[in-house]
Parts: sequence; C-alpha cells; structure tokens
Amino acid sequence: KEIVLTGIKPTGKVHVGNYIAAIKPALQIAIVSDCTALYFIADYHGLTFIQDKEEYNHLSYGIAATWLAMGLDPERVIFYRQSDVPEIFELNWILSCLTPKGLMNRAHAYKAILDKNEQLGVDMDSGVNMGLYTYPILMAADILLFQSDKVPVGKDQIQHVEIARDIAEGFNRNFGDTFKLPKYVVDEYTAVIPGLDGRKMSKSYNNTIPLFESTEDLKKLINKMKTDSTPPNEPRDPDTSNVFLLYKEFATPEQIQELRNKYLNGISWGEAKQELFQVMNDYLEEPRKKYNELMGEPEQIDHILFEGAKKARAMAAPILEKVKTKIGRYR
Ligand code: TYM
Repeated sequence: KEIVLTGIKPTGKVHVGNYIAAIKPALQIAIVSDCTALYFIADYHGLTFIQDKEEYNHLSYGIAATWLAMGLDPERVIFYRQSDVPEIFELNWILSCLTPKGLMNRAHAYKAILDKNEQLGVDMDSGVNMGLYTYPILMAADILLFQSDKVPVGKDQIQHVEIARDIAEGFNRNFGDTFKLPKYVVDEYTAVIPGLDGRKMSKSYNNTIPLFESTEDLKKLINKMKTDSTPPNEPRDPDTSNVFLLYKEFATPEQIQELRNKYLNGISWGEAKQELFQVMNDYLEEPRKKYNELMGEPEQIDHILFEGAKKARAMAAPILEKVKTKIGRYR
C-alpha cells in the first residue's frame, strides 16, 4: 500500500493555511484512497521555536484536537506524536552523520533568519539554535523512517521534502538501496494561502486566521483581510481575490457558482467578507464544538496518540533495523 505521511509543528494555533493545504487534502486522501496514512504532531520540531512549558503543551494538544475535530479517524489513520516514537530520533542521528553541512546552509528557513539578522545588523546566528539548523534532517527522518511515498504539504515545505530525497539518495548510494524516495503533493491552487495582509499566512508573520476562533473573533479577522480598492458595486475578479479563494474552500459548488456571479456583477468587499464569514462559520461550527470538548479531555487525546505511536513504532522498527544493518551496526 502507498504510504502517505504529513506533520504539523506546534508553533502557533492551527490556521486556515494549515487546514487548506495540509489537513484537508491529507484527510481526503485517507478516505478516498487505499493507502496507509500517517499523520503526526511534529512536537520536537516545535521545540526549536517554543520554549515555554505551558504554551508548548497547549499548542501540541491543540494540533491533535484540530485533526480529530476535523474528522481524522484514528482507526483509519496512524495518528501520533513525534516525540512518542524514539526510532525517529535514532534515525535522525544516523542521517545527521551522513548529511553535508552545506545542505543545511542552503535551507530556505535558515537562510531567511540569516537575512533577517543581517537586516537588523545583529550577529548572523542570533536566534538560531542547533535544532533549528538541523531541522530538515529531523524532517527527513520523519519521512524516510516510514518509507513514505507521498507527503501532502504547502509550498513552503517543498524544499524540505526535496532535502529528504537528497538525504535518502545519498544513503542509498553509499549503503545500497534502502530508502524509498518520497514525493511532495502540493495542490497548485492552495500551495500558498495568503494571510490577512496578503503575504503568506504564517504563524511567524502574525497574519493568520486560526481555525477555531470564537465566532466574534472570526468575524473580526475576516473583516481585517486586505482587499483592493475596487469601489462597491463594481465587478471584481473572483479568481484574484483572497476572500474568494478562502470562500471556495468552505462553500458548496452551488454556493461558489452563485457568489462567483455576484463578484462578476458587482459586490462590495463588506458583503463578500460577510459571505465568507457565513460559510466558514457554518462549516466550522460542529468541529469547533468538538475541538473545545477535546481540549478539555487531554487524557483522551493522549490515549489516541499513544495507540497511534504503538502502530507507528511497529512499522518503524524493522526499517530502522535494516538501516542499522546497512551501516554495519550488526554483522
Ligand atoms: P508547519 O507546521 O509550518 O505547517 C503545516 C502545514 O501547513 C502548510 N502551510 C501552508 N500551506 C499553504 N499556505 C500557507 N500559508 C501555509 N502555512 C503553512 C505547510 O506547508 C505544512 O504542510 N516542517 C513542517 C512540519 C513537519 C513535516 C514533517 C511535514 C515536520 N516533519 C514531515 C511533512 C512531513 C512544518 O513546519 O509545517
């Protein structure tokens, strides 16, 4: 069976970009295709950024509760917390030893921090811990340990999946065919979901629409979305509008067609945003309840994640043994 794997790190509240580009397609693949799906909370990746006990804990459970609230069925998906699977960290070390430092120097996320530090005129490595620097290797371990075929992600993670491929190829060249080469799955329309200010929606830009805000806050945030200055009642192009882009993800095909016509005939941004708020709020009403319930029952989340980790470990163990044999750890 094809292996599909993806993760989300707990560095902020799960937002609409995470949902549209990763969670939604991943849940879809798990339902429609006969694959083995592994979805996880990349909590040790999150530790590279969040070093506050309460916040880290809350955000980690928040990701788990989000997946479950949006319909993840733990009977169908192997759903786990990265830190419950020690095999990942053993493979991480082995891969670290085989990864040239230069490959990490070229990683976009690391380079972005260096650029920012240069602009600020501070030390180039300011704010860079070793976990952050070697982040792509841990991600490669996440992916390769399960012989993943497909990794559904947003555009910002493409380079990381390519690095995982490079690392796998390097290992295979040196020790013989061992790892499958993973492929990213990115939808061209939702590869980059824009945030409130029009830049990529990102926890680090503070421009996100978290998935489970209260009704009032959701409305306020949607009203803050940046739009162009087309006067009210003049036609606007639905296909270049961020408001419409989000609308399409939460509305039915009939609703989409209807609103598309309204855009073409002229609609004010105020009304367009009200329509978006309405479909999002309807879509999220039940999941929001479920999310809040789950956040009050962390033991239930733990139980699900521990069961998932058992299954993940059972899959990982023979692959890690194979790797250890290949490198000469055993005779
Ligand atoms: P993270 O936690 O930053 O984001 C989770 C997923 O959401 C996608 N995403 C977006 N997609 C479109 N538009 C946006 N504005 C947007 N913002 C976020 C991301 O591309 C991602 O798919 N390194 C990963 C976590 C990870 C992982 C893995 C993923 C760790 N190990 C193994 C896949 C496989 C990350 O930081 O994602």
